[in-house]
Amino acid sequence: MKPSPRPACLIFVYAFGLGLFACADPVPEQEPVKKDYIRKIEGVDEPLSPEEIQKGEVLIAYSDCYTCHQKDKRSKGPAFESIAARYPANKGYVSLLALKIIQGGSGAWGHPVMTPHPTLTEDDAKLMATYILSLKTGN
Ligand code: HEC
Repeated sequence: MKPSPRPACLIFVYAFGLGLFACADPVPEQEPVKKDYIRKIEGVDEPLSPEEIQKGEVLIAYSDCYTCHQKDKRSKGPAFESIAARYPANKGYVSLLALKIIQGGSGAWGHPVMTPHPTLTEDDAKLMATYILSLKTGN
């Protein structure tokens, strides 16, 4: 006997189609987070301008950074010296950290969140990042 199309089949095809559609965009697998607190990133250190370092230090003192950061100890945020230990001191990382200071975020040092600083100019944020990266021990 020849089966005639039944509504159930149509529903199946419909659901299967949706299933395929959903499968086409798989959720990225969560990899287990197990990392050293300071993952040093390889890169070339460039000499930083002493004048920019000093300006950055002043800007940081007048902003809210020290409510969450300390120079040599972890508080709500990582110690500035730990940040300096992780990132190479060069223009690329100054820009990257400046962006992070302006936009805020989380995930690089665990779960706590850094508030964004949208009123900072990119230039000021870069000066701040320059100061932080100057804190490499041994500098
Ligand atoms: C509300 C608390 C808070 C304030 C205020 C704050 N920070 Fe942070 N900051 C954090 C936290 C938490 C992290 C770690 C974020 C992460 O894990 O990605 C962080 C990370 C950073 C980093 C490293 C970013 C990275 O991707 O490794 C820099 C640089 C930094 N802060 C600079 C600053 C500066 C400069 C200021 C002041 C303008 C400031 N922070 C103000 C909490 C704060």
